Amino acid sequence: MVGLLDMERERWRDTAIIWNLLVDKEYRRRGLGREFICRAIAWGVNHNLRALTLETQTDNLPACRFYQAMGFQLGGIDDHYYTNHDIARREVAIFWWYELSEAAAS
Ligand SMILES: CC(C)(COP(=O)(O)OP(=O)(O)OC[C@H]1O[C@@H](n2cnc3c(N)ncnc32)[C@H](O)[C@@H]1OP(=O)(O)O)[C@@H](O)C(=O)NCCC(=O)NCCS
Repeated sequence: MVGLLDMERERWRDTAIIWNLLVDKEYRRRGLGREFICRAIAWGVNHNLRALTLETQTDNLPACRFYQAMGFQLGGIDDHYYTNHDIARREVAIFWWYELSEAAAS
């Protein structure tokens, strides 16, 4: 196995949350992550969902750059998500959105 996408439908808000996306270090920057996201988008569109969501840490810059490159938008931050001192610890939660209505129209 060289990669993993773990996502779950959240019926109460018509979205799917990506809990984890991982590509083996040896296989990164070859388009596998993009392929996972394309499949997640297609799955969400097929299930009439309105958006994909996920959370990353501010100290995971590669992941932030990846999701930005995939078209995700910043939804918000929560500086008390992991501890009471997330800013001091330099690890703050960022929430990302990908609106599927645009993907469905194209
Ligand atoms: C984030 C991750 C899944 C990306 O997977 P990947 O297969 O390397 O991604 P892709 O090759 O499809 O990259 C697509 C685009 O995203 C951007 N990107 C990907 N990795 C990047 C990095 N390290 N720095 C900057 N931009 C990056 C680039 O624009 C890239 O296009 P390009 O290679 O043509 O420049 C992978 O780095 C990973 O498994 N990281 C560790 C686990 C993790 O942090 N997961 C996310 C938290 S949920």
